[in-house]
Amino acid sequence: MMNSKLPETGTTIFAVMSNLAHEHNAINLSQGFPSFNPDQALLDLITHYLNNDGNQYAPMVGVPSLRKAIADKVSMLYGRSVDPDTEVTVCDGATEGLFSAIQATVHPGDEVIVFDPAFDSYEPAVTLAGGKTVHIPLIETADNPDYHIDWDRLENSLNERTRLLILNFPHNPSGAILEAEDLDRLAAIVRDTNVYLISDEVYEHIVFDGADHQSFARHDELWERSFVISSFGKTYHATGWKVGYCVAPPALTDEFRKIHQWVCYAVVSPIQYAIADYMVKTPEHYKALPAFYEEKRDRFCDLVSGSRFKFRPSKGTFFQILDYSDITDEDDASYAKRLTREIGVASIPISVFCEKIPNVRELRFCFAKDDNMLEKAAERLCRL
Ligand SMILES: Cc1ncc(COP(=O)(O)O)c(C=O)c1O
Repeated sequence: MMNSKLPETGTTIFAVMSNLAHEHNAINLSQGFPSFNPDQALLDLITHYLNNDGNQYAPMVGVPSLRKAIADKVSMLYGRSVDPDTEVTVCDGATEGLFSAIQATVHPGDEVIVFDPAFDSYEPAVTLAGGKTVHIPLIETADNPDYHIDWDRLENSLNERTRLLILNFPHNPSGAILEAEDLDRLAAIVRDTNVYLISDEVYEHIVFDGADHQSFARHDELWERSFVISSFGKTYHATGWKVGYCVAPPALTDEFRKIHQWVCYAVVSPIQYAIADYMVKTPEHYKALPAFYEEKRDRFCDLVSGSRFKFRPSKGTFFQILDYSDITDEDDASYAKRLTREIGVASIPISVFCEKIPNVRELRFCFAKDDNMLEKAAERLCRL
């Protein structure tokens, strides 16, 4: 028997639910991927580079045109001027960016704070670095019913072993977002500490109701200690490409690249060249993304408004949480599986993102789907 380095790791819930959905021919609103294709113009650019010398190793840090396009976007949207050569690295999806940033910062014995429900790739990466993950639940309170950070608890949890905080807003699975004051509050808490920050901003372009995305790149104090990570998969309806990036100040980027070069060395070339051209030629794509997904959110919420599920419309991401406490007391993992088998709609139970099972009855539904899928799924959910 091998002595496992990740003895607690099983198959991720995303694979479990997608397999179950497939087995029962269910409408799969579980895993977070669009049911539609990227823009044909972007696909044509990839074909162009496949046929025209775009097939050999890219530079370790990413192709220059893509790093420049990323830097220009960060400057335009968040007012942060970043140097494409020393502060931008293209990585193998956000997952690799997160992994490399965690390996770059965490030493054996260090503590890393994550906020539950937390994306499932964080903790295994911390464990492999020899660190200990400290889970702080996001809270819902009477004065702020959206999931948000318990600032007092965070402040009290910091100690001399705390090396890193990992935050993810817009938040998967709840759709919660940060306000500008939240960045100031966080800055005050980490001031005078040696704590680094990873800001997982893969849903940076999917924020609704006219709100602005509060990137850590916007904030002078936070920026100095932050790895800001994003994913083209979410932005360009192409989760299968696994291309993302990490933007961080030079000293952090240096250490990040030392890990990145041994994890994957470089990222798929033709897709990098194509995204770079597309970002320059078609910036309207990511500018139109909030309206595009807001319409889908509104449609899904409208369709399920006649059901017994309770919900608050998501503020960002392409996920909607539905509260089923008026329907049953069953735990979320078994209810999600039962819905897949019995009514043919797959979702993700919230408890799998948490260290301690929360006292809520909630499921996450992905609305990055064609209208007919959303209509069929909602019609089934309304029958419950
Ligand atoms: C919060 C969050 N972080 C990271 C990722 C991983 O992104 P990528 O597919 O680019 O590796 C996802 C994907 O679902 C996500 O939801």
